[in-house]
Amino acid sequence: MSTFSWEKIKKPILALAPMAGYTDSAYRQVVKSLVPEVICFSELTSTNAMKHDNEKTMQMLNFEKSESPLIMQLFGNKPEFFIEAGKRLEQLGIAGIDINMGCPARKVIHSQQGSALLKDPDLAAEIVNKLSKAVKIPVSVKTRIGYNCYDEEELPKFLKSLETAGAKLITLHGRTTKQSFLGKADWEPIYKIKKILNIPLIGNGDITTAEIAVERLKNLDGIMVGRATFGNPWLMAEISAKLTKQKHNSPQSIKDRLPIIKEHFRLSLKTKGEKYGILEMRKHLGSYIKGIEGASAIRQRIMQSEDSQEILSILEEIA
Ligand SMILES: Cc1cc2nc3c(=O)[nH]c(=O)nc-3n(C[C@H](O)[C@H](O)[C@H](O)COP(=O)(O)O)c2cc1C
Repeated sequence: MSTFSWEKIKKPILALAPMAGYTDSAYRQVVKSLVPEVICFSELTSTNAMKHDNEKTMQMLNFEKSESPLIMQLFGNKPEFFIEAGKRLEQLGIAGIDINMGCPARKVIHSQQGSALLKDPDLAAEIVNKLSKAVKIPVSVKTRIGYNCYDEEELPKFLKSLETAGAKLITLHGRTTKQSFLGKADWEPIYKIKKILNIPLIGNGDITTAEIAVERLKNLDGIMVGRATFGNPWLMAEISAKLTKQKHNSPQSIKDRLPIIKEHFRLSLKTKGEKYGILEMRKHLGSYIKGIEGASAIRQRIMQSEDSQEILSILEEIA
C-alpha cells in the first residue's frame, strides 16, 4: 500500500476539522459517505492516556476503512510518548498523524500541551523531529496564529522550525490561543505564512458557506471546516462542488435529510453502544433539527429519551 502524502494529494484539500466530542468514527463515516474526497481529522487523542492504555482513549482509535485516509490527532508534551503513540497508530493503518498545538483548554495548556507548545518552540520542534523519524507516515501540525497575539516575526520562525523538524503539513486557525473562539478568524497571517513555507498549508476558521470557502482559499493548499458542519455535514459536499466548479444540490428538508441522520444515529449506536451512542448523538440530533418547526419541543423529547427506538420514532414523526 502506498504511503499517504500531503504533497501528492489532490489540491485544494478539503478537511474536516478535528473536534473533540464530534469528529468520532460515526461522524467521519457520515461525512466521507457524502464527500469521499474530504480528509478527516480525528478528535484530539492524549499520548499520556495511550501510554497508560486508557480504555476510553483506545476505543477512540477505532476506525473503518471508509474513513481513509484518516489523520489522527495527538496531543501531549513528551516526545517519547508521541513516538510510542505514533508507532501504534502507524500499525493500525492510520494515514497520517497530526500534532495538536492549538487547543486552548485550560486543562490542556496548564500541563504544557496543546497550544502551550506555541510558547515552547524548542519542545514543539523536538516532538515533530522525533516523531517524524520514528514513523513512516507523515506528521503534520495544527496550530493558531499566536499565543497572546499574532507576531509577524515569531509565527514564521515557529512554523519554519517545524517544517525543518520534519512537519509535512501545517493547518493554521486564524485566531490566537487567548482568543479561544472569540472574535473573527484573521486569515491575512495565513496567506502571508503560505509564502514562506515549502510544505502545504491549510487555512481554518469561520468557514460557514461554500462561497466563503472559495473566497478564503486564495494561495492556500486547502481549507478546513469545523463547527459549520454541525447538523449540516452536507455543507462539505457543497464546498467540494464549489471548489471544483460543479453543480450540487444538497437535501434541504428534514425529510430528505432523514436517511443520513438515521445512518449517523445507527453508526453512533454501533460504535459506542446503546447508552453512549445515544448520549453522543444528543448534541448532533439537536443540531440536525435546529430551525425546524417545533424544534425545541422535539429537542426536549430527544434529550429525555434513553431508548434508541423511541428516538427513531420521534425522528420519523417530524419528517
Ligand atoms: C467542540 C470543538 C472541539 C474541538 N476540538 C479540537 C481538537 O480536538 N483538536 C483541534 O486541533 N482543534 C479542535 N477544535 C478547533 C477546530 O478544529 C477548529 O480549529 C475551530 O473550530 C475553528 O474552525 P471552524 O470555525 O471551522 O469551526 C475544536 C473546536 C470545537 C468547536
